[in-house]
Amino acid sequence: MSEKPIKKIAINTGGGDAPGLNAVIRAIVLSALERGWECVGIREGYNGILHPDAFPQGGLLPLTADTVRGITHLGGTILGTTNRGDPRRYPVQNADGQWIEIDRTGELVDLLQANGFDALIAIGGDGSLGIANVLAQKGMRVVGVPKTIDNDLDGTVLTFGFDTAVSFATECIDRLHATAEAHKRIITVEVMGRYAGWIALGAGVSATADAILIPEIPYDINLVAEKIMERERNGRSFSLVVVAEGARPKGGELVVKHAAGMGTNERLGGVGEQAAAALAAITGKEARNVTLGHLLRGGTPTSFDRLLSLRFGAAAVRALAEEESGVMVALDPPTVRYVPLAEATSRMKTVPLDCDTVLTARDLGISFGD
Ligand code: F6P
Repeated sequence: MSEKPIKKIAINTGGGDAPGLNAVIRAIVLSALERGWECVGIREGYNGILHPDAFPQGGLLPLTADTVRGITHLGGTILGTTNRGDPRRYPVQNADGQWIEIDRTGELVDLLQANGFDALIAIGGDGSLGIANVLAQKGMRVVGVPKTIDNDLDGTVLTFGFDTAVSFATECIDRLHATAEAHKRIITVEVMGRYAGWIALGAGVSATADAILIPEIPYDINLVAEKIMERERNGRSFSLVVVAEGARPKGGELVVKHAAGMGTNERLGGVGEQAAAALAAITGKEARNVTLGHLLRGGTPTSFDRLLSLRFGAAAVRALAEEESGVMVALDPPTVRYVPLAEATSRMKTVPLDCDTVLTARDLGISFGD
């Protein structure tokens, strides 16, 4: 039986911002308007619909061709976003003043339907698309768009935002090369990526780092130091080490800046500093750490990310027009296909140890500290 025709859709952006979000929004809005559908953005994840009172200008933003004009190249998101307040585990204070987590996904589906939305396009990473999957199971027509600089979503060859993060990290490492060489220093460069090493690997190989430390390959800092001293013996008195924030020594722990709390995720950070200190102690050389952090998330998307974002946005609308639901648009070159949200969010996509980029790095003499 054919679904009820779509007249009005909601768009939300959840989790950390990623370059390309605005391009996705523009493509969705223009493709939807083309089909005569009305488009509305939900501000700050689902807060705009769960807590409209918190938004003096309204929690829902009508999206027209004018609203999305000139935003393709802009970083951030015109809707705002949040990585707090997951409606599956929403933190509330009970009568005793204690914080507990409750499931608000049923209420969210009711609110979406009460506001006249026939479908939702959710743009997000594993957390946001996990929520989208629950909303689909509870009866909402939903299509997901894979966003994250970390590239750790399964089911798609690439997420949008990743290419920009890798390109910017590469440029930064290139610049640090000059300083490292001038001062004969070791420089560790810590990059984001959570529990996956995609950004560190991509940027480290592109920028010809001497060592790359990723979560998938626990490292021995002595082996990294050995690589640095071997370079020293060959007249190369400086070294660049790219460290993924989720990297950890063999038998050691992740370096966590803030533990997970009620409604918030664990925040990683600090392993780059630790690696620099250890390398300085072992080699006797001067070492510095630079943490790129959120610089990787902002800024203008690369042309690759812009195009991918526009393709994803348009494909999400096509998916709805083809009566798909509970799916995520996914890059499967040369095409964009649809994969079940349940499949895409069931496991994290980490770097396979035998992937050709890892093999390339090893062939180029880059150390993983293993
Ligand atoms: O998932 C994107 C990401 O930038 C990760 O690489 C990083 O660990 C995390 O978000 C940082 O989150 P926040 O913006 O909350 O510090």
